[in-house]
This record gives sequence, structure tokens and C-alpha cells, in this order.
Amino acid sequence: MDIRQVRHFLGEDWKKVEALFEETLHSDVHLLGRTNGYIRSNQGKMLRPVLSLLVSRACGTPGGDSVKAAVAAELLHNATLLHDDVLDDSIRRRGAPTVMSMLGAKASVLVGDFWLVKAMKTILACENHTKELSDIFAKTVLDLVEGEMLQMEKAGSGDTSEDDYLRIIYYKTASLFEAVCSSAALSVEAPQELREAVTLYGKLLGMAFQIKDDILDYDGDALGKPVGADLREQKITLPLLGALRQMDADREKEVRQMVAGIGEHPSNCAMVAEMVRTLKGTGYAAERLEEYVKEAKESLRALPASEEKDMLLGIADYCAYRTI
Ligand code: FPP
Ligand code: MG
Repeated sequence: MDIRQVRHFLGEDWKKVEALFEETLHSDVHLLGRTNGYIRSNQGKMLRPVLSLLVSRACGTPGGDSVKAAVAAELLHNATLLHDDVLDDSIRRRGAPTVMSMLGAKASVLVGDFWLVKAMKTILACENHTKELSDIFAKTVLDLVEGEMLQMEKAGSGDTSEDDYLRIIYYKTASLFEAVCSSAALSVEAPQELREAVTLYGKLLGMAFQIKDDILDYDGDALGKPVGADLREQKITLPLLGALRQMDADREKEVRQMVAGIGEHPSNCAMVAEMVRTLKGTGYAAERLEEYVKEAKESLRALPASEEKDMLLGIADYCAYRTI
């Protein structure tokens, strides 16, 4: 699936999203306006607003609130990345230097704040279900923060379990995908049954998306962002958990201690990565990923047949088989 083609398919609805996005990011402060323009010029696939519009069209007829929900999702997503690059000290994203690396951590946090508040204001400008839509996005903001804090708590200890991992990726990624789909359905007054179906789809898709991200961090070809960053940040993700499952208790404890010690001994990274490769940890993660993708597709059963529904099914496969 080519997401650019889906954007083209979305036609006038997509143009409205682009126009509102552009308008929202205007600032008379030159440094801020220029920085927003820089982020826009490396804007990536815009998967979340694409998903939002596809869901609103698959469930009804999109109006102004659907466009706002789609724009708010992308604004919030970028806000989190601006903050995340500070937390992770990341110098590259989407194949380009991060705002953090060019203007420093303070600017990245401030620009992130701007995008975050613009997201909330965009939702507050909705004409219908404003309170419910605000609640959906506010819950996600809290989930995102909790996910990052939980990840931070776990990073130093080396004791992340698979349940911890699933909780972290729900909070930090799937919660926003869930919000994207449920807000889009609400914006077109979709019946409860459809809202529930697409909300579940969003959650499962988000889980799959993050598992694939974590696989690419071991298997990727260094396009866009550096490979191996998760281990350097002492994050225990599903490929490593897959490898740990195959070790006896003593060896597992030893490897977990190696991960917890990466801060003082960065050379542990290469040894742990080699273990993940030898024990085919990404294969285990890929099996779990396929289960999420299958369930995500099944959750769309209640939706009436449409081209948009087919594209939502295609996006589930795209999340699993993408190479960047
Ligand atoms: C990327 O994960 C990070 C996220 C998806 C969420 C970041 C959330 C926050 C920083 C907290 C909330 C912030 C706001 C503005 C509400 P990753 O680091 O695993 O992936 P990466 O490789 O793309 O950096
Ligand atoms: Mg990061």
C-alpha cells in the first residue's frame, strides 16, 4: 500500500486537512514559523490523518469536525515527537536532523508545546461532541505521558516483562491510533457498533505499528532514523523479549543485567543485539505482530463494504510489512 496514493484518493477532503494544518501552524514569530515550516517539509507519511479521514468516510460523510479531528491527530503526534527527541536525545528523524539537534532541547520542548496546544484548540473548535472529542484526546495525552514515564522507570531496571512492554506500547502508540479512529467515527455520528469496531481496529493497529517499529530497530536499513537506538536507550522491546524467552533463568538474568548496565558499558549493546539475531527474536515479534494485524482486520467486519474499508484493511498489512 502506498500512503501517498491514499492521500490522492482522499481528494478534496485531504486538501482541507492540508489547508487547516498549514493555517494552524502559522506564527508571526519568525523562528517558530520557520521551525514549523521545517517540520512540515519533513512531514512523513501523515498516517494518522489519513487513517482518520478513511475511518470517517467508511462510517459516514465527513464534515468540518472530521477535518479538525484529522488535523488534531497529526498535531498531537508531532508534539509528542518533538518532546520524545529530547527525552531520547535523538539527532535524526524522518531522514533529517531533529529540531532538538538543530535548535536545542529548549526549543524542541517549546515548539512541541505549541503543537500540543494547537491540537487541543483544534478539537475545542469542533461544532459537535466537543466535550467528548476533548475527552478522547485528553485521555490519549495522559496515556502518552504515562507510557513514557513507565518506559523510563523500566529502562534503568532491565526487568521489563512482556506485559510491561504491551502496556508501554499501548500507552505510547496504540492509544493515539485508538483516539484517531474513535474521534473520526464520532465526527460523522457513526452508530455505536461502528464506533466500537473502529476503536478496536485503531488500538490493534497501533499495537502492530509499534511492534513493527521495534522490529525495524533491529532489522531496519537505517533509513530515516538510526537503527539500534532502543537498546542504546536501554529499552527492552519485543525482539529482545523473544530472545530472552529462549534462555534459562540464569542466562536471562545475566542478559537483563547487561541491558541495565548499557549506560556505563555501551559495548553491551552489540553483544545483546547479536544474541537477539542468533535467537531470532525478531521472528518471535513478527509472529505476535501478525496476530495483531489479523485481529485488527477482523474487527472491521461490522463496517459496510467500501473502498475506504478496503484501504483500512490494506493499512493493517502496510503496518506489518512496511520497511521504514
Ligand atoms: C516515540 O517512541 C514516542 C512516542 C510515540 C510518544 C512520546 C510521548 C511523550 C514524549 C510524552 C507526551 C508528550 C506530549 C507532547 C503530550 P520511540 O522513542 O520508541 O520511537 P522513535 O524511535 O520514533 O523515537
Ligand atoms: Mg524516541
